[in-house]
Amino acid sequence: TAPPPFSVPLSLPEVAVPVRRTATTDYYDMTIRHGAAEILPGVSTPIMGYEGRFPGPTIRAEAGRRVVVRQTNAMMHETVVHLHGGLVAPGQDGHPADSIAPGAYREYVYDNRQPSATLWYHDHSHHMEAEMVFRGLAGFYLVGDRRERRLGLPSGRYDVPLMLRDARFDEQGRLLFEMDDFRYRNTLLVNGRPQPYMKVDGRKYRLRLLNGSNERYFTLRLGEGDGDAMTVIASDGGLLPAPVTATSITLSPAERVDVVVDFSRYRPGTRVVLHNADGTDEATTGVMRFDVGHRVPDLSRVPERLGHARDLGEAVVTRDIEMKLDLSIGAFVIDGKTFDMDRVDTKIKRGETEIWRVHNRDVRPSVPHNFHVHGTHFQVLDRNGQPVTGHEAGRKDTVAVPIGGDVRLKVRFDRYLGRYLYHCHLLDHSSMGMMAQAEVIG
Ligand code: C2O
Ligand code: CU
Repeated sequence: TAPPPFSVPLSLPEVAVPVRRTATTDYYDMTIRHGAAEILPGVSTPIMGYEGRFPGPTIRAEAGRRVVVRQTNAMMHETVVHLHGGLVAPGQDGHPADSIAPGAYREYVYDNRQPSATLWYHDHSHHMEAEMVFRGLAGFYLVGDRRERRLGLPSGRYDVPLMLRDARFDEQGRLLFEMDDFRYRNTLLVNGRPQPYMKVDGRKYRLRLLNGSNERYFTLRLGEGDGDAMTVIASDGGLLPAPVTATSITLSPAERVDVVVDFSRYRPGTRVVLHNADGTDEATTGVMRFDVGHRVPDLSRVPERLGHARDLGEAVVTRDIEMKLDLSIGAFVIDGKTFDMDRVDTKIKRGETEIWRVHNRDVRPSVPHNFHVHGTHFQVLDRNGQPVTGHEAGRKDTVAVPIGGDVRLKVRFDRYLGRYLYHCHLLDHSSMGMMAQAEVIG
């Protein structure tokens, strides 16, 4: 049922419009509902969506200015909304215990006291996040700030959010969700369109790449062969201190990277494919295609210095965290346990830096995992003992944990007391229990 690659135009999620603005706050109203989307050409697919959209509307926030989103649940199921990468208070964080009942609403208050970054919001329902996100409950949340605007990066229509994910459809074009069936999810979508093309001018673009898949990893390469250079400017939590050039970028589920690509280096008429080097066939290797048009004047630039470098200081505590598929109980566990929302798994003192060594113990069978922490941005020290580079050296909230290997993170919670989740962001795993919570104490 999927169309030939690059035959469908890309679409951009609509930008949400506040219902009210005050001197300090932008207010939004959203309804979480069942809807229908034309994902495959000429086919109407039932989805779940914020405002019934697939993906949801993009919220554009400004650092230091509050955003209040009233989310009304018009579905038959409970739901809860998490702002992924948001440094928000525990009560606003979309904890599975804080669900919105059918017919009810909840107001989420986001202070946006954090630097400019590509964030996203998505469902976090207890044991249901995998299916709900798969069916469409995800959208972009872009934080801007004055510092970033002064840099002169590509902006406006040259700043393009791209939500990459996979999906599986049945014969009727309905989304087919079965837990952990990722091998069958072999239709690639960008902003809800199958392997689309996008017409671009011959100039620089900022592309905000989000891996919105439940389980699929993307290794992204632009153009043919080893890949053309992309200028990496930001990671999950915001701008890197300085731009880094990359020809290949791996994103595990929920990771983001912002890159600047200068299409003026291609002759007009060139078609540049964004490839997924992890793909296995035509359907899973071609992500999207950029059709390059004429050169246009371009005053944007990528300066040599971007964001602030961040130093989390000396660690006082080191902990080991183990991720594993426990075959004896058929569950994904962290430190031997499946998620229990009434249990605190880790206590961490506010303002104290810890080193978390996160292990993936699943060698046979081999299962990839990644690791996401709510309520903070961490620093990745190394993976299997090797220092990380590129976007992974920046502010992160999600990191890949290799099969049989480990990553070491510096973690510090500076702001609020209370409970924050940490979990595998292969959402089928977290839905099956691969999640735990830390309590930040004074
Ligand atoms: Cu994006 Cu707890 O998740
Ligand atoms: Cu996992």
